[in-house]
Amino acid sequence: MKTVVVGLGHIGLPTALLLAQQHEVVGVDTDETRVRTLADGDLLLDEPGLDALYAEVADRFTATTAMEPADAYVITVPTPLDQQENVADLRHVRAAVESVAEVVSSGELVVVESTVPPGTSERLVQPILADAATDIAYAHCPERAIPERTLAEMTTNDRVVGTNGQATEAIRDLYAFTDGTLHLTDPRTAEFVKLAENTSRDVEIALANEFAKLADGIGVDVHEAIEIANEHPRVDILDPGPGVGGHCITTDPWFLTGAGSEARLVPLARDINDGMPDHVLGLVREQVAHVRRPRVAVLGVAYKGNVSDTRETPAGRFIRRAENAGYEVSVHDPHVERYDEPLLDRATALEGTDCAVVLTDHDEFRELSPATFDGMRTRTIVDTRNLLAHDTLREAGIEVSVLGDGTQG
Ligand SMILES: NC(=O)c1ccc[n+]([C@@H]2O[C@H](COP(=O)([O-])OP(=O)(O)OC[C@H]3O[C@@H](n4cnc5c(N)ncnc54)[C@H](O)[C@@H]3O)[C@@H](O)[C@H]2O)c1
Repeated sequence: MKTVVVGLGHIGLPTALLLAQQHEVVGVDTDETRVRTLADGDLLLDEPGLDALYAEVADRFTATTAMEPADAYVITVPTPLDQQENVADLRHVRAAVESVAEVVSSGELVVVESTVPPGTSERLVQPILADAATDIAYAHCPERAIPERTLAEMTTNDRVVGTNGQATEAIRDLYAFTDGTLHLTDPRTAEFVKLAENTSRDVEIALANEFAKLADGIGVDVHEAIEIANEHPRVDILDPGPGVGGHCITTDPWFLTGAGSEARLVPLARDINDGMPDHVLGLVREQVAHVRRPRVAVLGVAYKGNVSDTRETPAGRFIRRAENAGYEVSVHDPHVERYDEPLLDRATALEGTDCAVVLTDHDEFRELSPATFDGMRTRTIVDTRNLLAHDTLREAGIEVSVLGDGTQG
C-alpha cells in the first residue's frame, strides 16, 4: 500500500507521518521551501511528539513537489476564507484534486480532509475525479484536531467519514492509526458536521460575550453569574473573552452560511465576536482617558491560553485598533516565538506603559504580583479573561478593570 498526502502543513504532515507508521507515504507539497526544509529535518511545526514520529518513520516517508501514482490519496490543502465575500476560497482544493486526477486509476481511494462548504464533494471534487477514472472510492473526512494536541487528537478522536459507498473498507484500513470511532455518512453530511461543530462553538462564545456586555450595563459580575448558572445540570455557559481566534472557528461559520444564505444567528455571532476587540479598546480607553499619548502593553497574543498559535488571534484586531487610535503598543507572550509585532520580555513590554491588557489566559499570567507592574507609567490593567488576582493587585493601588465584572456600566 502506498499513500500520497497532498499538502504538508499543520494537518497534512502529522497525518502523513501517522500513515507512514503502517506503509509507504509520499508527501506532495507545491511549496519547494517546505519540501526542502522537511528534507533537512526541520518540520516547522511546534507539535508534541512530531519530531520523534518523523525520526521513527523516516525510511517510509518522502516529501516531493511532484505528484505521483499511489493506491490512496489524502488531500489536506488550505481552504482560506475569501475575506471580501465571506465564502470559502477553494482554489487549492481544485488544484490538488486536478493534480490527483492526472495520476489516479479506477478503484483507488481519494480522501479530502480539508474543511469545505457543504456540497463541495458532489459539485467540485467528484466530477473532476469521475472524468479521470471510473469507480473511485471517495470520502470526505474533515480533520478536527487542535494545534499542539494534533497527534494525540488524530489518534483518539472519533472521525466523521462521508463516503460514496465504495470507500468504506479502504477507509477503515487508512485510518487504522486511530482508536476513535469512524462515523460513516454521506459526504455532504460530513462536510456539514465539521462546520456545525465549530459554528456551535462560535455561537456559544458570542452568547458569553453578549452576557458580559449586558452584565456590565446592568451592574452584575458576569463571572459570578455564569459560575452559579453552570451549577444547574442543563446549563454550560462558556467564559467571555476578547474575541475568537484560531484557524477554524473564525472561518467555518462562513463556510456553512455561504454567500446569500438566510442564516441570521451565525453571522450575528461572528459579528459579536469580531466586535469584542473594539469593546476591549473601550475598556482601555476609560483607563487611559487622562493620558495624552497612551502606551499600552498587550499580555498574550496567542488566540487561547498555553498555546503558541496566533492564527486569526483577536489580539491582532485589538493591536491594530489601538494603534489606529494613536496608542503605542508593546507586546509580550511567553508562549509565542514568531509574531507580526516585535515580542518583548514582560518587564520591557510593561516599562513606561499606562495600561496592561491581558488578552490570553496563559497560566503564567494567573499569579502576576503587584511588583510585576512597577515599571509602568500609570498602573492600570484591563483583564479580559478574569484571570489575575484582582484583590491583591487593587490592594497594592493598581486600577484593575475586568471584562464583564459589572463595574463598567
Ligand atoms: N490547522 C488546523 O488547526 C486545522 C484543524 C482542522 C482542520 N484544518 C483544515 O485542514 C486543511 C489544511 O489546513 P492546514 O492548517 O494544514 O494548512 P497549512 O497552510 O498549514 O498547510 C497546507 C499545505 O498545503 C500546501 N498546498 C497548497 N496547495 C497545494 C496543492 N495544490 N498541492 C500540494 N500542496 C499544496 C501548502 O504549500 C501548505 O504547505 C484546511 O482545510 C483547514 O481548514 C486545519
